[in-house]
Amino acid sequence: MKSMRYVWIILLLLTLYVLYSYNYQKTVGMRLHFLHDNILSTFFALTRTIQSSFPGQIKDKEKLVRLLTADELAQYSTLEDGLYLAILGQVYDVTKGKKHYGPGGAYRAFVGRDASLAFVTGDFTDEGLTDDVSSLTPSQIKSLHDWGQFYAKDYVYKGKLVGRYFDSNGNPTKQYQMVQEKLALADMEKSDEEQKKRMFPPCNIEWKPEVGTRVWCTKRSGGIERNWIGVPRMLYEAGSEQYRCTCVNLRSKEYETHKGSLREYEGCAEGATNCLIPNSEQVG
Ligand code: HEM
Repeated sequence: MKSMRYVWIILLLLTLYVLYSYNYQKTVGMRLHFLHDNILSTFFALTRTIQSSFPGQIKDKEKLVRLLTADELAQYSTLEDGLYLAILGQVYDVTKGKKHYGPGGAYRAFVGRDASLAFVTGDFTDEGLTDDVSSLTPSQIKSLHDWGQFYAKDYVYKGKLVGRYFDSNGNPTKQYQMVQEKLALADMEKSDEEQKKRMFPPCNIEWKPEVGTRVWCTKRSGGIERNWIGVPRMLYEAGSEQYRCTCVNLRSKEYETHKGSLREYEGCAEGATNCLIPNSEQVG
């Protein structure tokens, strides 16, 4: 009699395991996943554990990621159901930040939707609260991505929002790829900028009303540690209307190749590391 009871328990567990394997959880069980006290969700957790002990059976880990529709996401906007938001199609539970996202919170507008654009623009109007970020530059996309990383680190990841960035199978869309491309572009721009800053480090600048502006170079000026000091020069960069003061190593290859964009400060000796510019002249 006692052994019959075990047979029933094993049969029940097996049935649940089979249902889970056929993605039953995606359609029905997901609703239960969030009711921690529900016995079925415990069974699902158990089947997940069984599955993970046979790693070969999980070919695609993504399978376990929940896919939410916009309507489903919109439901998570109360303290009872939980507070969710999406950023670039990734959904996070931000309930623990209820002082920001709960009723009356300053960032309540982000809840129950993907309002990626507003993370960069700060525009919380109806038009501003959109997931369309095609108007953003690579560096703005980078700031948005940083917000995404903030949520990934500080809050609970819940899955993907079906729509602009993920299709109904959870696969990335064309718009998702475009965002990734801009992100890669931002990284390239940044490393270009860093390289340029290493080649042409900024000068130290000091302004005194009675004397004017003093520009000078040291082995650390502009926060760039190096084994040469350099001399102050005006550097005219593409896309910038003003010049900036840079320290130039007169014996470098870079100096030779960029001579055309560099100017000496008037009244300053060619090899001087320190120049004083009277108030009448402008310093970048
Ligand atoms: C583009 C504009 C802005 C966006 C998208 C934005 C977004 C956010 C978000 C989402 C949070 C909550 C972070 C969390 O979950 O812990 C936050 C927190 C905060 N924001 Fe903003 N913010 C913006 C501008 C500003 C400005 C202009 C100020 C100040 C004048 C400001 C001050 C704060 C402060 C003080 C907190 C922390 C509050 C606390 O921990 O109690 N924010 N911001």
